Amino acid sequence: MRNSVLILILFLVFASSVYILSCSSEPQPTLSELMRERESDLKLLKAAIENDELIDLPEFVPFIDGIPSRENLETDSFRAELAAFDIYYSTLSQQEAETIKDRYTAVVQFCITCHQRHCPGPIRAIRNLEFEPVDEPGLILFD
Ligand code: HEC
Repeated sequence: MRNSVLILILFLVFASSVYILSCSSEPQPTLSELMRERESDLKLLKAAIENDELIDLPEFVPFIDGIPSRENLETDSFRAELAAFDIYYSTLSQQEAETIKDRYTAVVQFCITCHQRHCPGPIRAIRNLEFEPVDEPGLILFD
């Protein structure tokens, strides 16, 4: 009898600790939060590339783990795009001076292509991540 009370108490302690631990875990980030975070990570990377430095990519949560704000961002095809982007982005963690600029440029192009179709609002801000565009032909800078 005493044993079974003890077992019951132990079980309750175990069950409540599982409950408490599961509730205090980190909340899942939204897709927008992850995108903003990535934007500032890429700014750091861009500055490093411009200074001919190689830096480690800051740790990141894949886009596929972000919670989207609307239902039409939960389709299989949109999720496949996010997953493809995640793979693309992770290529930036293998830093090699000769190819880093091209890989960086390809990642930023991917950001822009997806935004043109699904979320045009931030495109101007994303374009700031591109390397300086070449002067437009015919543009007169000095008289
Ligand atoms: C596969 C498509 C896709 C790719 C790739 C993508 N985005 Fe987004 N992005 C979205 C969508 C869709 C939203 C809106 C998310 C929502 O409403 O839940 C968004 C939101 C944003 C926002 C706005 C966040 C806010 O303030 O609400 C920024 C900034 C952003 N993305 C930047 C980027 C950058 C920088 C990249 C590349 C590193 C990128 N995105 C790659 C689809 C994409």
